[in-house]
Amino acid sequence: MSDHTPFLPTRADSPPYSTKPRRRFLPTFGRPNNVGLFFGTAALSGILFHFLFFSLFVAPASNEWKLALPFSKSLPGLHRPEPTPNVFDHALPYPPPPPPSDHSHLPSPSTVPDARPDELTVEELRDLVAGTSGYFVRDFSLGLGWNNVRYIIEAALIQAKLLNRTLVLPSFVYARACEYNISVCADYAPMVNRGEAIGWSEWSSLPLEQQMGWRIPMSLMLNMTLLRQAHPSILVSDYLRLHGLPLETEFSNGAWQRESYHKNPTVFETNGSKTPSLFVIENKWYDPTGSIRVDSIPDNMKLRGHWSHASMSDETGPTGRWAEQTETPAFKLLMTALPENKFVLDWEAARGALTAGDGDETWDVESDEDLEKVLLDNGWEVLYTFRGALGMDYTKTVVDPVRQVAPRGTIRGLVEEYKDIKDDVLLLAGETHLGRKPGALRFTTTATRADFARIVLFHLHAVDKVFALAEKLDNRMSRLTEGRLWMGAHMRRGDFVRLGWAMENTPEAHITRVVQHLDAGREILQNLTNLTTYDIPNVKPDQAQLYREVPAADDPFYIATDERDPDALDIIASHGAVFFEDLLTIEDRRAFGWALMLTDVRALVEQAILARGAYFYAHSMSSVAGGITNMRAARGADPRTILLD
Ligand SMILES: *[C@@H]1O[C@H](CO)[C@@H](O)[C@H](O)[C@H]1NC(C)=O
Ligand SMILES: *[C@@H]1O[C@H](CO)[C@@H](O)[C@H](O)[C@H]1NC(C)=O
Ligand SMILES: *[C@@H]1O[C@H](CO)[C@@H](O)[C@H](O)[C@H]1NC(C)=O
Ligand SMILES: *[C@@H]1O[C@H](CO)[C@@H](O)[C@H](O)[C@H]1NC(C)=O
Ligand SMILES: *[C@@H]1O[C@H](CO)[C@@H](O)[C@H](O)[C@H]1NC(C)=O
Ligand SMILES: *[C@@H]1O[C@H](CO)[C@@H](O)[C@H](O)[C@H]1NC(C)=O
Repeated sequence: MSDHTPFLPTRADSPPYSTKPRRRFLPTFGRPNNVGLFFGTAALSGILFHFLFFSLFVAPASNEWKLALPFSKSLPGLHRPEPTPNVFDHALPYPPPPPPSDHSHLPSPSTVPDARPDELTVEELRDLVAGTSGYFVRDFSLGLGWNNVRYIIEAALIQAKLLNRTLVLPSFVYARACEYNISVCADYAPMVNRGEAIGWSEWSSLPLEQQMGWRIPMSLMLNMTLLRQAHPSILVSDYLRLHGLPLETEFSNGAWQRESYHKNPTVFETNGSKTPSLFVIENKWYDPTGSIRVDSIPDNMKLRGHWSHASMSDETGPTGRWAEQTETPAFKLLMTALPENKFVLDWEAARGALTAGDGDETWDVESDEDLEKVLLDNGWEVLYTFRGALGMDYTKTVVDPVRQVAPRGTIRGLVEEYKDIKDDVLLLAGETHLGRKPGALRFTTTATRADFARIVLFHLHAVDKVFALAEKLDNRMSRLTEGRLWMGAHMRRGDFVRLGWAMENTPEAHITRVVQHLDAGREILQNLTNLTTYDIPNVKPDQAQLYREVPAADDPFYIATDERDPDALDIIASHGAVFFEDLLTIEDRRAFGWALMLTDVRALVEQAILARGAYFYAHSMSSVAGGITNMRAARGADPRTILLD
């Protein structure tokens, strides 16, 4: 008989049964307090059971994905092996854990990162670099999680582009958690002690398995081909090959090696003395307090402020000089409106200050044009950037463009100061990440800001298989909701609970909060009659938001979480949550490959899944949520379908 049941939408080609006896109890997808739903589900389950019973005999070994419903435990004829007991009992290990052996905590010599199918030859590398004026490199902080590393890459990419230099990215990053016993992941990716690899001590008090990290190729996390369509970008391993240096020279913590990377000329150079020269942008030169780093200073701004090149000093690096600013009343008023140690004001704050006046004088700044004129006439400039969630800059999304204003004298242009440097390698030293806007600078034109947003949204992507898997799992969510739109949330717990940053400490309180927000989300979806998109380039509203039915009150919802405590997961599931594990089949795992065992790689897929949901709720301080917001915006989601708090 056919696998199709009349109760589920067309692609529901399998009857439900559970592949694994697990924590679900009563009605899997209902809220416990919903009696009506319980009986509804029970009735449906009964009918499905009938189909299930027979179809199982037809295809007992079908590995096609099945809904995880609780009644399957007692099914006759279902000879599913129990999952091997494991520290994480909600996980079915694939591949099976290797026989106990003495796994040292040192990188295993047999594990080399995957060869890159997209790897360029040295000739191609030479030509790519020749199209630019040298390399732009960073000290990448590989101790950070992927989404923070991604922010640094985004910023490095726009910096490299502004300076017309080839960007060099680390060849690897560190995954921070394994879904199975760490020795399983160590069989597939070199395992290192992260503290030792990075040189940080913050993890040394954790249990040993939480100190481990797995070195995974950058080309697994980022589609390098797509990135290169936006701007010439290579990996440190490419740079080393081009210079005839051993790949082991690449340093474990992501810092650019000022000496060992500069020992050889390129393999095409016969003069052995022509090693790449290095210019270091000292960290303190980048954006010290009292200065605002921008992409470049437009000519008309230079004219207004009588800008000129200044001589370089060890304190400032190369810099420019603005003519002395007359302290007009408006200038002074705006200065007093600045928060302490800050040198930018939001657009509306500037308007508010000028409208209120200084006691003697007020300014007519009702229209944007009038406001801009008053600013420019009084030594201030308009800058373009993005609004952060809840006024903070943790999510670094590029979907909400805003104007800010700054005193002209604080403005420093990256292009003005560093484009003329002739050295082969230009290194921006140290960390320029925390407390910065997306791109680690502000823009002086809307065009370059849009260019940056376009790169982030459309060129910094994971590889295809991440999106292919996310699409499959999205379809399975739709089956669970019988074709209705589905909602999801990211529950950051793990380190956020440890740091006291989680929204709620207990899983019960946390999921209750999520459910409340999703209830509000359902109402928003109900009320969506016409669509808008974020104010970003090249995006059309996703019409599916209108033509699919809104979620039913008791529909299951998707939860991405780093919570791994089985009891906590039970509690979360009992409110109707569906997890990654629930949607995944053995085939998916095989098709994707070993990397899916790494929590960090799963998180990429989970971001792509939540980018496809109809409504999304998460924490405003999470970089994971920031990535999802960007992805949703790029897909044409309506801004009302995202809630970060
Ligand atoms: C992981 O596996 C190793 C070897 O099989 C074993 O000695 C160790 O106890 C396991 N660790 C945990 C946390 O189960
Ligand atoms: C970048 O530099 C290369 C090599 O100097 C030059 O040929 C190219 O025109 C420059 N591109 C831009 C956009 O300035
Ligand atoms: C080799 O390169 C060095 C450094 O650029 C230069 O001083 C020297 O003259 C070159 N030698 C030859 C033979 O071209
Ligand atoms: C990278 O992106 C391009 C363009 O979307 C795509 O054709 C290619 O298959 C992707 N590569 C990988 C490894 O996913
Ligand atoms: C949705 O529409 C109803 C009826 O117009 C209104 O009462 C409710 O406040 C709206 N809810 C939201 C979240 O906009
Ligand atoms: C929503 O639709 C109404 C009428 O259909 C239209 O007048 C209004 O401008 C639309 N709003 C947006 C934000 O598109």
